[in-house]
Amino acid sequence: MSEFKPVLLASVGKPESHTRKVYEQSGGYQALRKVLKTLSPKDVQEQTKASGLRGRGGAGFPTGLKWTFLPKDHPGPIYFCLNADESEPGTFNNRILMEDDPHQVLEGLIISCFATNSAVAYFYMRCEYPLAYKRICQAVAECYEAGYLGKNILGSGYSLEIHVHRGAGAYICGEETGLIESLEGKRAWPRIKPPFPAVEGAFRKPTVVNNVETVACVKHIFDRGVDWFKSIGIPPDPNNPRDAGSYGPKLYCLSGHINKPGCYEAPLGITVTELIEEFGGGVWKGRKAKAAIPGGISMGLLKENEFHCKLDFNGPGKFGCLGLGTAAVVVMDETVRMVDFLLNSCRFFSHESCGQCTPCREGTSWATKMMTRIKHGKGRLKDLDLLLEIAENIGIMPGTTICGLADGAAWPLKNCIKKFRNELEVYIKSTNPSGWMETAAVPALQLLDIH
Ligand SMILES: Cc1cc2nc3c(=O)[nH]c(=O)nc-3n(C[C@H](O)[C@H](O)[C@H](O)COP(=O)(O)O)c2cc1C
Ligand code: SF4
Repeated sequence: MSEFKPVLLASVGKPESHTRKVYEQSGGYQALRKVLKTLSPKDVQEQTKASGLRGRGGAGFPTGLKWTFLPKDHPGPIYFCLNADESEPGTFNNRILMEDDPHQVLEGLIISCFATNSAVAYFYMRCEYPLAYKRICQAVAECYEAGYLGKNILGSGYSLEIHVHRGAGAYICGEETGLIESLEGKRAWPRIKPPFPAVEGAFRKPTVVNNVETVACVKHIFDRGVDWFKSIGIPPDPNNPRDAGSYGPKLYCLSGHINKPGCYEAPLGITVTELIEEFGGGVWKGRKAKAAIPGGISMGLLKENEFHCKLDFNGPGKFGCLGLGTAAVVVMDETVRMVDFLLNSCRFFSHESCGQCTPCREGTSWATKMMTRIKHGKGRLKDLDLLLEIAENIGIMPGTTICGLADGAAWPLKNCIKKFRNELEVYIKSTNPSGWMETAAVPALQLLDIH
């Protein structure tokens, strides 16, 4: 770990790091030149596949493999959507890259578009990122000036246009087909899959959707080579035939009750403890940690005695979590009440559910109502089993919803009730000793938790 030097964040904090001039001074756009001069799109796909790069947006799908799902010899157009919606709670690594090193992102995007024969890319960015928007627009303009974008890029015969599009700020706009619907000017309702975007995506044409950090990694694979990329991280777990390994550098967002919150770069596979102690300066105010979310709230919850969990694509699953997600770690100290954590989580997902699927729409709001009742001293012990039953029955995993938002809503419920059941039971018993539940509805203001 100690010999690892940041790559993705290497320029962050340097003066004028967002300008093309500074980027080129540190070797920027050399990878693009090399790719356009010496490689075919198929070569780029193959090398990306060989690098073992997996998507950084949450699902960890192998990037090169995803690109090969595009129809061969398609007469066009093929679209590339760069997912910069970044709405997962606790996640801000895309913002740092876009604000402080936008050309790194653009170089990776241009190489990725070349690999997928895309002539048009849509840079879909959440609207709450005004500085990132400004920096990306400036960087795109600088790229057109320098001949890195537009017609016949660097004399290679390859042409590419980039359109920067701002979303209106909804979590569901980050789901790839919700993003595509939103881009097309509609409500961001995720589409039933198949067809997957690679076959039928934006404007019903073959489309690739990748995350900002994913394409930033692509730039470095072609700067430093496949072997360099594979030398970082950890190989597949021999006990898990479905694990494709976790290679390359990763950006970890660390926040919550921590001395030094921030975005840190480390090889995939760092443990939660290492992240907190070596980067975060320990838990704040000298307190003990109680729990942490491992990769955005939708991934569930780790207890403090599980902090030896490795933050690779395979690690959090070994502790009952959904996965690595966005690698956004939010630390909770010993003063946090799990009833508050869970109510907050439930409220978020019911607010963000797009409402298309009944199990998600009704399940998330039912869970929120129950958690509000519990919080206000009207809970019953059997509510915990009812909440678990809701959680077990909503999502793609049980096959009842269109997209993964409902799985993300279910995991904090499952993990929190299983791992902190005793605390929740003590809370329910102490706030409602008789176990009585009034049949009258909880007042509306209490449901909204407004006091
Ligand atoms: C509810 C929901 C929200 C999502 N939000 C984002 C997001 O903000 N950014 C992102 O890159 N991926 C997000 N994803 C994952 C995308 O659907 C998709 O897998 C990803 O953009 C693919 O890029 P990658 O392969 O480079 O990771 C979300 C998924 C779901 C189910
Ligand atoms: S799972 Fe939820 S967010 Fe996803 S499509 Fe269904 S209702 Fe919408």
